Amino acid sequence: MSKRSPDVRLMDAPMFLAGPLPAAAKQCEAVMAAHRHRFVPADRRHLVTAFFRAESLALFALREAAECLPDIYRIPLIEQAADEERHVDFFAEWLDTRPMVPRPRARARQIPQRLATLLVNEITGFLQFCTLKSLCGEPGRRDAIEGMARDELRHIGRLIRWMKTFEGERVMKPVSGSVDRFCRAMSERLRQFFPRAALSPLVDALILPHIRPIRTLFGFDEFGPEVDDGSARDPWYPLGDGGPFSLCPRSGDEHGSR
Ligand SMILES: [Fe+2]
Ligand SMILES: [Fe+2]
Repeated sequence: MSKRSPDVRLMDAPMFLAGPLPAAAKQCEAVMAAHRHRFVPADRRHLVTAFFRAESLALFALREAAECLPDIYRIPLIEQAADEERHVDFFAEWLDTRPMVPRPRARARQIPQRLATLLVNEITGFLQFCTLKSLCGEPGRRDAIEGMARDELRHIGRLIRWMKTFEGERVMKPVSGSVDRFCRAMSERLRQFFPRAALSPLVDALILPHIRPIRTLFGFDEFGPEVDDGSARDPWYPLGDGGPFSLCPRSGDEHGSR
């Protein structure tokens, strides 16, 4: 069967923000509520550290985007970076320390692919905040986490609107494969937040609610996109596959931005 690069057609932002995303958020909250009893203090400490690093990488990715994208994107991206700075500060205060997070090497990418990388990271970040909220028992921190999740919703809406301006253009072609690879690495990504073996059932239960809204947004069918890089031959959820995402990304790793 020949492979082709499909046209990427995104769901409209209001529809996505009112349907697939809140549905996935509810699932993430419910999954965490069902697995909360598995957590020991060291898991919580690790999780907060992982959030600190993830938000730091989001900040680096935004600064890089603001530096290299055209002027029309710059001011909103600088605003968005200010949100991420607050998120980083929140986790640093929670940890009472500021671990070193190296900035990944900058990488040249076309605009839609850069926006898509930011977008899938924002969606995953939003869902991870919903998951964290369900674990956190302190009302003050829960409110702060909700506030950060609302920031991410704003970022998601803006990125979808920007991406839709490229629909039908050739530069959208590589986006499918890129989003597909991000989804394939979801298991690995989540395991970096919950690495202890006793938390594996939690990770397994979180994978689908994290992948499904992204797949819906990008219009992938149940078998994933038909792309020309060979990735569509693999199963959609290769559990345990290393994948490109890392909290300590290899230099130039395109999915290391959150
Ligand atoms: Fe954030
Ligand atoms: Fe964000």
